[in-house]
Amino acid sequence: MNRGDPFVRVEDVTKTFAGKGEDVTPLRELDLVVEKGEFTALMGPSGSGKSTLLHLIAGIDQPTEGHVKVGDVLVSGLRRRQLARWRNREVGFVFQQYNLVPVLTAFENVELPLLLTSLSKSERDRKVQVALEAVDLTDRSDHLPREMSGGQQQRVAIARAIVAGPSLLLADEPTGNLDEHAAENVLELLRALHERFGLTLVMVTHDPRAAAYAERVVHLDKGHITSDARNVVEEAAS
Ligand SMILES: Nc1ncnc2c1ncn2[C@@H]1O[C@H](COP(=O)(O)OP(=O)(O)OP(=O)(O)O)[C@@H](O)[C@H]1O
Ligand SMILES: [Mg+2]
Repeated sequence: MNRGDPFVRVEDVTKTFAGKGEDVTPLRELDLVVEKGEFTALMGPSGSGKSTLLHLIAGIDQPTEGHVKVGDVLVSGLRRRQLARWRNREVGFVFQQYNLVPVLTAFENVELPLLLTSLSKSERDRKVQVALEAVDLTDRSDHLPREMSGGQQQRVAIARAIVAGPSLLLADEPTGNLDEHAAENVLELLRALHERFGLTLVMVTHDPRAAAYAERVVHLDKGHITSDARNVVEEAAS
């Protein structure tokens, strides 16, 4: 598959949550194609279904109707075990709240996804080192999450998300808890990873400044895509 080929395909997807009260349908007959190697920002008001859409793409949740495909894989058709294996190999997920395990060091947190693979200890160590290097945190490997700043914790979470070499990186408001400086740092990092590894990146954000880092901005509202535009990338002065 080449850069620019359709990679993530959300086809006619409706998602309804049936609760005790009224059903909620955050996504209605939604279609979205994300190209291989594209960096897309997903925006929209609170409750517009951004996280829901990201979860469907990652196979964390299943659509009520319609299909989700990533590459050749029909994600919405996989069974539990296959899904877990596929996700662990192909998808990195970054959360707003970092979701690090508090009693594990940075190194051990990044190593976690690799424990589910057949890699040897030395292969795991090498991959963890590469990932920590990529986020510039080699010197914090032995630190616990509480011994790190929010920005550093988010970078550990990003290292954990990329350590298995996924083709798809999904980030749900990765800078939502960070101050401006730390946020810029994380956004620069995401952009660099996207460029360096050709990762396809979908990032949910409320912040127009964060969205400006993406190549494409998709707006979601009331279950539908209300706009879909390419960002004009400023030529870097050389
Ligand atoms: N597991 C669930 N069970 C029931 N309802 C849910 C569930 N997950 C989400 N919803 C509902 O679906 C709607 C969309 O939620 P979602 O989290 O996708 O919004 P969002 O766009 O990510 O919002 P925010 O910007 O606040 O994070 C909301 O009304 C929410 O209450
Ligand atoms: Mg959300």
